[in-house]
Amino acid sequence: MAALFNTHEGLNPGLVDRDVYTEYQSLPLPIGKGVWRWWHWPSEQWHCIKVRSHKSGRYLLDNECQLLAGIQSRYVPRLIEKVTTPDQTMMVSSYANGPTLASVIRQQGAGFEGCSQVMMQLVDALVECHRSRIVHCDLKPNNLILSGSTIQLIDFGHSMDIGRDITKLPYRGFSPSYSHPALKDGKTAVTPDFDWYAFFVVMHVSFYGKLPALNRAPSTPLMGVFESMIQRSGLPKLYQRYLTQQLADLDLRLSQKLTTKNEADENKHRN
Ligand SMILES: Nc1ncnc2c1ncn2[C@@H]1O[C@H](COP(=O)(O)OP(=O)(O)OP(=O)(O)O)[C@@H](O)[C@H]1O
Ligand SMILES: [Mg+2]
Repeated sequence: MAALFNTHEGLNPGLVDRDVYTEYQSLPLPIGKGVWRWWHWPSEQWHCIKVRSHKSGRYLLDNECQLLAGIQSRYVPRLIEKVTTPDQTMMVSSYANGPTLASVIRQQGAGFEGCSQVMMQLVDALVECHRSRIVHCDLKPNNLILSGSTIQLIDFGHSMDIGRDITKLPYRGFSPSYSHPALKDGKTAVTPDFDWYAFFVVMHVSFYGKLPALNRAPSTPLMGVFESMIQRSGLPKLYQRYLTQQLADLDLRLSQKLTTKNEADENKHRN
């Protein structure tokens, strides 16, 4: 099987029917599993290359390309190109130069300098994605790059359109600590609530360096867990009000779901 792309040889030109890849420096530099950065001479910029060979990985990368093409935001990498061969799929996107939020927290500690700015930009990024009817669905510190003064939200492999029925997906994955209960259950339609739930967990980890005490009882209101964090965050009042409203809405919908679930369980027992 001829690889479209590999670390030692870069792109296999025989598999691409044009010579645009001569515009790149000969060898790409690995930055992750199946992810490289590659210097593009004409634009004098790094590009990010992500390649997948297995069925599930290719499905998720196809999904990522499709969704990235539907978002225009300064907080989201720009899709440059998708290349498909019988064996592999390759995504070329803009490269975000900087550490992930996870490594900044590890190296500089919780409440690092600029933490409030990062949270404000993350709110703006989510609002923009949701306006494009896209829910990220895998928001976590590893999927956020602090690139100079601007964050970049990466890894849209698990992202979905608002309203998509997740019971019908061929491949599904989530990060348990950051996932809304309905996303974990997998029996619902996609809602921006998934990202707001993850946002509050990310904010807690960023400010306090540890996961919040959630999941002890499914009925524990999120307001009790996160409200004081918002008030102490130093975010402008406008953002604080917006986030407090998001919390109240999340709690309301979670309690409605719980009531419906309890009623369904009771009916099951009665029948
Ligand atoms: N556009 C980008 N710019 C810079 N670095 C990137 C970009 N996209 C991905 N990376 C780097 O590659 C790593 C893996 O990318 P990504 O999260 O998209 O893939 P993944 O298959 O989900 O991997 P993982 O399972 O590690 O999350 C990221 O943590 C990041 O370091
Ligand atoms: Mg990732």
